Amino acid sequence: MSAKPNDNRILSAEPRVDERELENTVRPQRMAEFLGQRQVKERIRICVTAAAQRNEAMDHTLLYGPPGLGKTTLAQVIAREVGVEMRHTSGPVLERPGDLAALLTNLKAREVLFIDEVHRLNPVVQELLYPAMEDFRLDIVIGEGPAAHTMRLKLKPFTLVGATTRAGLLSSPLRDRFGIQERLELYSAEELQRIVLRAAGIIGIPCDPEGAAEIAGRARGTPRVANRLLRRARDYAQVRADGRVSGASAAAAMELYNVHANGLDRMDRRLLGVLIERFHGGPAGVEALAAGIGEDRGTIEDVYEPFLVRAGFVLRTPRGRVAGPAAYSALGLEKPGKQGDNPQLEGFDA
Ligand SMILES: Nc1ncnc2c1ncn2[C@@H]1O[C@H](COP(=O)(O)OP(=O)(O)O)[C@@H](O)[C@H]1O
Ligand SMILES: [Mg+2]
Repeated sequence: MSAKPNDNRILSAEPRVDERELENTVRPQRMAEFLGQRQVKERIRICVTAAAQRNEAMDHTLLYGPPGLGKTTLAQVIAREVGVEMRHTSGPVLERPGDLAALLTNLKAREVLFIDEVHRLNPVVQELLYPAMEDFRLDIVIGEGPAAHTMRLKLKPFTLVGATTRAGLLSSPLRDRFGIQERLELYSAEELQRIVLRAAGIIGIPCDPEGAAEIAGRARGTPRVANRLLRRARDYAQVRADGRVSGASAAAAMELYNVHANGLDRMDRRLLGVLIERFHGGPAGVEALAAGIGEDRGTIEDVYEPFLVRAGFVLRTPRGRVAGPAAYSALGLEKPGKQGDNPQLEGFDA
């Protein structure tokens, strides 16, 4: 079984600049439209309702998980369910304490402040955030040296929603201040099929359930990828078929873009390549693997591994990571026998 290298970009879970507008068009607005993640939704619903009954701001909420699973979307849904505006910012944007202070002092009661990539917050900015989260209080130092004094400002009760792909990089004082911490999981093929059908309905793409299933099965558990594949399938159907994303036209479109069932993206292929080539299929420690592909351990665990493990490409064993049989066939390699190297592995370009 040989696998052609696919267009890696098409399977990337990271957002592309040219997709932002379309992403916003199909972004679920309310909890009922946010498909999958049933337990997460139920717990958040309860918190939203309880806070509303007490007329309080909802607890600060941390959303984490691999890219493209709906963290930003869920933050917006929370704000809507609470019935307030959401202010959107991100860790790297808040360079100085003053940037955060300006945002916080402008929040109205119960509003949601969304900080994306919250693990990238400058430590000085984080210091300011602690009393703000805990007591809705802002301590601003004015002046320098002996003349410096602290000004204390009272804030309206607000909800901080933080999102991160790298929860492990959050400092523990920051992490501890989030009363609600929810991890988003990869979606099942059935859930993705429903997400594709919903998006197709909104954009106005005629799409059969079979067409949606073809796309869902190759989307790596990730709604962002599913929506991107839907757009490629639509173009194909329009130009090469009768305009309907049917099972047949979707499958043909996916083949054309070399998106195979359970497709691997560029980083997946590198990781598996290193695991198979350099570590002879494992077991390999995650640190060694990380060094091999020039990434840090946490990124592997938090961003790349969830899909690889779920799809059986990587097995987690007590002695380290092992390449599953699927990994060899996906890279077009033979699984080596008990001993001896696989000649096909020589010169494998990781
Ligand atoms: N549960 C869901 N139901 C329907 N569509 C979703 C869901 N989660 C994400 N999406 C779609 O996937 C896209 C990416 O979601 P986003 O919230 O930006 O992911 P993240 O912030 O985790 O990277 C959104 O445009 C949205 O349309
Ligand atoms: Mg996001």
